[in-house]
Amino acid sequence: MKSLHVRPVKRLSGEIRVQGDKSVSHRAVIIGSIADGLTRVTNFLPSDDCIRTIKAFESMGVTIKIDGDSLEIYGKGPSSLTEPPDVMDMGNSGTSARLLAGLLSGQPFFSVMTGDNSLRRRPMKRVIEPLRMMGANVWGRREGEFLPLCIKGGVLQGISYRMPVASAQVKSSILLAGLFAKGKTTIEERMATRDHTERMLEYFGVNVVRNGVTVTIEGSQGLRPRDIEIPGDISGAAFFMVGASIIEGSEIVIKDVGINPTRTGIIDVLREMGASIEVYNLRDMGREPVGDIKIRSAPLKGIEIKGDRIPRVVDELPVVCIAAAVAEGETLIKDAAELRVKESDRIAVMAECLSSLGVEVKILEDGMRIKGVKGLKGVVCHSHGDHRIAMSMAIAGLVAEGETLIEDTECINTSFPKFEEILKEICISSL
Ligand code: S3P
Repeated sequence: MKSLHVRPVKRLSGEIRVQGDKSVSHRAVIIGSIADGLTRVTNFLPSDDCIRTIKAFESMGVTIKIDGDSLEIYGKGPSSLTEPPDVMDMGNSGTSARLLAGLLSGQPFFSVMTGDNSLRRRPMKRVIEPLRMMGANVWGRREGEFLPLCIKGGVLQGISYRMPVASAQVKSSILLAGLFAKGKTTIEERMATRDHTERMLEYFGVNVVRNGVTVTIEGSQGLRPRDIEIPGDISGAAFFMVGASIIEGSEIVIKDVGINPTRTGIIDVLREMGASIEVYNLRDMGREPVGDIKIRSAPLKGIEIKGDRIPRVVDELPVVCIAAAVAEGETLIKDAAELRVKESDRIAVMAECLSSLGVEVKILEDGMRIKGVKGLKGVVCHSHGDHRIAMSMAIAGLVAEGETLIEDTECINTSFPKFEEILKEICISSL
């Protein structure tokens, strides 16, 4: 089993780039695979999760050439996919499983998806229910709550659907099914979630009508292939943003980071805590805004993080917990029950990790209260197979006294294979 040993550093310094955005990388493969012609992708994230999506489309007859972080996707149009000859294993990737459930519901063939121990415990009814309302035939364990899922796709009917959970995966799944449905599909969100699917579909020439938190798509539209450059992943950048904020004397620049407003909750949260963050050199990559981010260390204070800010920072909350652990005063995270159904129960696991670091934590049903302390203690901890827990604890280890050992860090490859390498680039251990 792989593990990571981390010791305190003097400061973080330097200029880096993070790998391509995971959400956008998945969507590039999915949408490029049903476009009519060659889609070239650069700065693709070749992580385990995104490779699962590639493998799924290869098994449905799409030719995809991978060269490092570049892809060539030879799409043959929306009705060109063929029945996969075997079960498609989505590994740890919730995005692959949920988005593909929507797409597969509209295909005239039979397919089966499964996943690893963690993914087979994650809720699928949230996508299956609206897909069944559209006429999809989907079966799964516990009435469709858990993988493996069997789908016999067919003719779908557009629906109007108000989402009970704030989830971009659910929204995207219904949108992809809507592309193959008769008539219009309208989705109303409770709170805005990441809109990469909407943006990429528009970029491929699909008419997507957006009005506040409502989005409508009409079925049977063609997709024009495009070249896509994927922005740096702000969820990966978040680890270094917190690291540079909490290690005195640090100053780093992260270039070409995606700053889609549905994803920048981490910048708002850290700034409210007192962080020094400058975003500049703003420009667009396709339909996605990007910028360079400069972070200097600054004393942080505890704040409240709740409501419609949660979906904009949902994946970054584990590392926000590390910022909260060394901030002055108390941080309250609430309205974040979704954390319980991520790659691990991130409320329970982060609370356990923070306690071991010597931090006082109170667990709430939908979040936690964290009381900042002056110094953290180095620990031996376990990732629980969750990449974001592993990387958050690595950042804690940079400021904790003694050595921090994180066990089971193989999972980091699901979203950020170069995490350790890039972290080493900016760690200054002595003067
Ligand atoms: C994602 C959406 C989010 C996020 C996940 C990626 C996506 O999940 O946590 O890491 O790519 O659409 P939910 O939509 O379930 O909140």
